[in-house]
Amino acid sequence: MGAPAASDAPLEYAVDELLADGPYEAPLVAGQVRCHGGFDAEGRYRSPRTLQRAPAIRAWQAQLARDGHELLAIDAALMPPQYPNVEQAKLLLREGVRDPVVRRLTIISIVEGFGAIIRDVKVPDLAALVVEPIEGTALAHLRGGLFEAHARDEAGYRDEGGHKQMWEAARDLALENPRIPGDVLMRMLGQGPGRRRERRRALPRLDEALETMLATMAQVLAVEVFAMGAFDWGERLLSDPEVSANPEAAGSLVSYIRSDESPHVEYLRSALSEVSARSLRCVDGGTIPGREAVRVLLHATLRGLTRERREEQRQAIRESLLDSMQAHAQPESLLERYDALESAWTPPAKTGFEPETPEA
Ligand SMILES: [Fe+2]
Ligand SMILES: [Fe+2]
Repeated sequence: MGAPAASDAPLEYAVDELLADGPYEAPLVAGQVRCHGGFDAEGRYRSPRTLQRAPAIRAWQAQLARDGHELLAIDAALMPPQYPNVEQAKLLLREGVRDPVVRRLTIISIVEGFGAIIRDVKVPDLAALVVEPIEGTALAHLRGGLFEAHARDEAGYRDEGGHKQMWEAARDLALENPRIPGDVLMRMLGQGPGRRRERRRALPRLDEALETMLATMAQVLAVEVFAMGAFDWGERLLSDPEVSANPEAAGSLVSYIRSDESPHVEYLRSALSEVSARSLRCVDGGTIPGREAVRVLLHATLRGLTRERREEQRQAIRESLLDSMQAHAQPESLLERYDALESAWTPPAKTGFEPETPEA
């Protein structure tokens, strides 16, 4: 029973296999919504679509190690702190200023739902664009189930809720169906994390679809790794009986979401590591090391997320926060107490993916 040892699991999978659920004793129902995943006979939560996907990812990672290639990792020290942090959020809730926390939780649920765009990423003919063979890799299964499983986990599928619906349920359980500010999505699209940017080509020698796919994967990997901070924040806040009406149910929901994220981080870092271990054909007939391409894209995305994006997000949240505080009896002293709880943070000087220049 259980997943086969990593070295025994096959390296090739059909789409349906990577999307297959294990048997569940009981479904997960969040608030009133039937969600993905479920519970085994011992009452432990089991993530959706991991019956074969989890051992598959372990097998691809074991293969990388066997071939002497590294599995790339994003340093957790790069993860910006949450704003508002747990103590700030608790202060606001205790003082009856609920909108900023409701807003933050709603944004998290919307961002989770946006995760479904991963299924629309164009996957070019990788066998033609990668010099070395790619059979039996995560890279060869992106279109064949990995992107689709990821999209379903985030946004839900058919009548089953995914992370979007699970965050909404956690919010509504903990804060007892709060009023949702009407402008959350508008503000997000205007200035926040949902804003689309025109990306400049970082690797103009590369096939454009390949660069776009790799850049999206680098971006999503970084967002997934940094989301761990938001999950930790959500779990601590919503499971705190001082501010949460349903600490057990709301906190558990966030912990389930968190465990579902692990395959996302793992398949993305596996596939990017597989690219790093190979060479890529350029449009001019030459080749470039995959390692260089992956480093350039990860470096750019990590710098953006830890510098501009962090500050933009903080400013956007602060703007609506000041509005919400006006309804409080003593907005100025509240703001002072709130600011005193702020976590100081300076992004680390290096992303760990700086371009490698040969020693002089
Ligand atoms: Fe998610
Ligand atoms: Fe995810």
